[in-house]
Amino acid sequence: MKQGELITLLNTYRKEQKCIIGFNINDIYDLQAVALAADEANCPVMAMTYPPVVELNSSFLCKKMVEGIQAKTKQPIYLHLDHSTSVDMCKQAIDDGYHSVMIDGSQKSLKENIAMTKEVVRYAESAGVLVEAEIGKIMGRDVVVKSDKDFLASVEDVRAIVEEANPHIMAVGIGTAHGFTPKAPKIHFDRLSEIAEAISVPLVLHGGTGIPDADIQRSIKIGVAKLNVGTIVHTTYMKELYNAIGKDVNSAYPPYLMKDVIPTIKDVVLDRLNAVNFVPANL
Ligand code: 13P
Repeated sequence: MKQGELITLLNTYRKEQKCIIGFNINDIYDLQAVALAADEANCPVMAMTYPPVVELNSSFLCKKMVEGIQAKTKQPIYLHLDHSTSVDMCKQAIDDGYHSVMIDGSQKSLKENIAMTKEVVRYAESAGVLVEAEIGKIMGRDVVVKSDKDFLASVEDVRAIVEEANPHIMAVGIGTAHGFTPKAPKIHFDRLSEIAEAISVPLVLHGGTGIPDADIQRSIKIGVAKLNVGTIVHTTYMKELYNAIGKDVNSAYPPYLMKDVIPTIKDVVLDRLNAVNFVPANL
């Protein structure tokens, strides 16, 4: 892969109303499932590591793992650091050869968020690494929101961070939540459109597990060029593995179990890729 290739790809995707999916992966097995699905769907993917995965394994090892799987995968697998609140972790991932990093300053003041983002963008520049920033909040997990004002990205704030810090892509809080949601999230498409009119960088939609296909496709038409999908991947992995182990834990042997688990994870990944790659003309 050439330096800056992913940045060019996502800019083209925004113009052509296309979207790449970043899947949160945890180890070599769910990564294999993502790679198999990418080849079957005939489209590039992003493999994203959350900070705990990097803390446990190191960004060096994650990069080597993706490099190894890439060698037997036709489609590009771009490695991304997801939701890092640490500038140092982003810098280490860049040094270790990640294609893309997210510096998440969304819980900080706008001023601090801009400063953190600027520092990572400067560091990433010579390596041609893509930088994602976030404004607004993605609900769920430990993010507590009391009203729309808490999570909804303000157009002024998005414009400010893009003009001052120059991130390549922007994650924006518009009502989606991480994880399974009791009902479909209420996405503020009006705000998404206002943001898309205000800035030309590709937009990122987080919380892909709970977003209905029609809402995903409508977002792509507006300017979303990257969708994040995580929970559905690791819950499928854990449930299938749990069922495969069954009651006889003493005879459970990892390679035999994973041979059956990987195809199930792959099917879930493929299902999400099909949701993104099919965009009806009349939306
Ligand atoms: P889900 O876990 O809801 O799929 O969201 C993943 C995500 O947005 C990672 O950044």
